[in-house]
Amino acid sequence: MAQKNQSLGEFIIENQSEFQYSSGELSRLINSIRLAAKMVNHEVNKAGLVDITGSAGDINTQGEDQQKLDVFANNVFIQTLTNRQIVCGIASEENEDFITISGSDKNHQSKYVVLIDPLDGSSNIDVNVSVGTIFSIYRRVTPAGQPVQLEDFLQPGNKQVAAGYIVYGTSTMLVYTTGHGVNGFTLNPALGTYYLSHPNMTYPENGSIYSVNEGNYIQFPQGIKDYIKYCQKEEEDRPYTSRYIGSLVSDLHRNMIKGGIYMYPSTSKTPNGKLRLLYECNPMAFIAEQANGKASDGYKRILDIKPTALHERVPFICGSRKMVEKAEEFMAAQKS
Ligand code: AHG
Ligand code: MN
Ligand code: MN
Repeated sequence: MAQKNQSLGEFIIENQSEFQYSSGELSRLINSIRLAAKMVNHEVNKAGLVDITGSAGDINTQGEDQQKLDVFANNVFIQTLTNRQIVCGIASEENEDFITISGSDKNHQSKYVVLIDPLDGSSNIDVNVSVGTIFSIYRRVTPAGQPVQLEDFLQPGNKQVAAGYIVYGTSTMLVYTTGHGVNGFTLNPALGTYYLSHPNMTYPENGSIYSVNEGNYIQFPQGIKDYIKYCQKEEEDRPYTSRYIGSLVSDLHRNMIKGGIYMYPSTSKTPNGKLRLLYECNPMAFIAEQANGKASDGYKRILDIKPTALHERVPFICGSRKMVEKAEEFMAAQKS
C-alpha cells in the first residue's frame, strides 16, 4: 500500500511484485531513470550560472533548434541506461534512429525498450520556467537474443508497461505508473532522495482549466474553436479559466492536480499537430487514464493508435474525463 513519505527506492521494491513479469528488471530500469533525472535536475538548477542555456547550434531530427540542455539531458539518459545495461533499445526525440544496446553479455537479453523526450518544454529554460522529462517503457516484441527492431518501438500505447515524467519545477517531482495507478514523488534536494508526496494521483472528473496555445486559434479545426468558445461563454456553471505554460509536462501536471484539459490540436499548417505520439502523447495518455482522466486525438483513444514511424505526431487532447468528452462532442459535431 502506498505510504506517504516513503522513499521512491522503498516504494519500487515494495511494489515490484504487483508487476506481471516481475524479475526486478523493470525496477532497476525505473531506478536508473530516477538517477538520470537527478543529474538533469542538478544541471537545470544551475541554468543561468553555467553556460547551459541557449541553443546548441544544431537542429534536431525534427527540424527544431536543439538547446544545450536538450543535448545534455539526452546524453545523460542514454548513458545511464546504456551503462547499466538494463534495456535493449532506446528511442529519443533527439535522435533520428533508435539505439541498440547489446548488454554486457553481448547477447541482447534485456526485455525492455525505453522511449524518451529527455527535455520537454526546452524553449522555457532560458526564462526560468518549468521543464520536464517524459519516458515510456515497453517489452520488446521480437525475441530476445538478437538486436531490437523498429517494431519493438512502434507498439500502440496500450502495450506500455510503465510511463512517467519528471517535472523540474519549483520542486522536482517524478510521477509514474506501472498500470496500477499513478504516484508522485518529490525530490528532497538536500538528501538527493525522492519521497512519496502524491499517492494515487487522480484527475478530478471535471475541471475549470483549459490549456491551449490560443495564438494558433485561427488555424484550429472548427470543433476545437467551438469548444474554446463554449469554455469562454459567460454563464455561471461554466467558470473556465485559461492556463498555458507551453511545457507539456507542467501543463498536464497542473491540470491533473486541479482539473483541466490540455489541447494541442491539428492546425491548418500542421495537420497532425505538434506533439509526438511515442515520446509525449502515449506516456501522458497512459498516466492520464491511470489517473481516471482521458486522452484522445479528438475522435479516438490515443493509446489505441498503431504508430507507423518513430517521430510521428498526433493531435492531442488530454485531461479530466468530462472535459475531454465535451471537446470530442464538439469535434464529432463538425465531422463531415
Ligand atoms: P519539446 O521541448 O520537447 O520540443 O516540446 C515542446 C512542446 C511541449 O512541451 C509544449 O506543450 C508545446 O511544445 C508548446 O508548443 P507551442 O509553443 O507551439 O505552444
Ligand atoms: Mn516535448
Ligand atoms: Mn524535448
